[in-house]
Amino acid sequence: MLRASRALLYRKATDSWVKTWFPRPTIIYNRIPQREDERLPHVKRKLAAIARDPDIRLFNRRFFNKWSLFQWLHENSATKAYIPETKKLTEPEVLSKLLTKHRLLYLKPVRGKAGVGIMTVKVQPEKKMPYRLQIQEEKGSKTYHCASLKTVWAKVSSQSEALGEPYIAQQGITLAAVNERPFDLRALVQKNSRGKWELTGFGARVAGDSSITTHVPRGGYIDDPQKLLVSIFGQEKARKVLRKVKNTTLKVARQIERSSDGSLCEMSMDLGVDQTGHVWFFEANSKPMKFDEPHIRNKSLQRIFQYSVFLHRHGSRQEHKGGLHLERDKRMAIAESR
Ligand SMILES: Nc1ncnc2c1ncn2[C@@H]1O[C@H](COP(=O)(O)OP(=O)(O)O)[C@@H](O)[C@H]1O
Ligand SMILES: [Mg+2]
Repeated sequence: MLRASRALLYRKATDSWVKTWFPRPTIIYNRIPQREDERLPHVKRKLAAIARDPDIRLFNRRFFNKWSLFQWLHENSATKAYIPETKKLTEPEVLSKLLTKHRLLYLKPVRGKAGVGIMTVKVQPEKKMPYRLQIQEEKGSKTYHCASLKTVWAKVSSQSEALGEPYIAQQGITLAAVNERPFDLRALVQKNSRGKWELTGFGARVAGDSSITTHVPRGGYIDDPQKLLVSIFGQEKARKVLRKVKNTTLKVARQIERSSDGSLCEMSMDLGVDQTGHVWFFEANSKPMKFDEPHIRNKSLQRIFQYSVFLHRHGSRQEHKGGLHLERDKRMAIAESR
């Protein structure tokens, strides 16, 4: 006895959305794009009710948090090698300790996105003002030269307070660069029509002028990753790096799904390649934004449907993380035979 749900349906003829009744969904992908919306009481209640419902499979229930991601990936030796050293930025000693090992640090809000609030600290011991602090602005970044770590800490903690967010401090990676502009990779990993994680595609983002991140709205631009990697490493090494990128994304996706509480059907990832060709993981997002590259965008939409069809045909709610029981869901069978 399926109950019906109210939903919006797009009408091409009138280019409008109309409210209508649908059979109750058995698979739901939570695409709420803003953390603020997900924190609203009625939204929280609805998500909790959906998650409790044995007849519904809910995907990508939560946003990731940068600190949890690093803990999860640190737990597994297969993914540990790809994560820069990361600590919770709770006190100035965290900065001083990390700076004895790494000359460059990235400081990032745990629930940040699109580069908001990101800072870098660089030590240049030979200089009178040895600490260079850069803070990401709307476009480009602001630079402060500080004589002591105390001054750096004062500035950093006031930024963290203004944003109302805890920070992580992370080993800075010297990214491979073209014309002195660093670039990184945005990958989309999805479950495919066989229920397995697969890399749908990835693009490159080249940093904008004086920006400490590569985000396009902050002056970065999109480029072809293969072309960039070949121009830096040559054909043969670029091929190896590309293979490594692919393997890394799959290992990372599996480990995130294993550690996170809930099922996932896709995620995007930011990865860096350093000047030696090593691949580094920066972050993953459980609500990937629309991919700018049309070929990735199109494939990504197809995959969501292909995976849903796979689940509808084979999945049962007793899915283990990372592997499926191919036991047929009785209710699905009833729905199909109606
Ligand atoms: N540890 C790091 N070393 C070098 N570059 C980094 C590091 N962390 C982040 N970046 C750069 O900053 C960008 C934004 O960082 P990210 O962790 O993705 O935060 P956001 O959620 O704001 O997108 C990355 O895409 C990368 O270009
Ligand atoms: Mg990012």
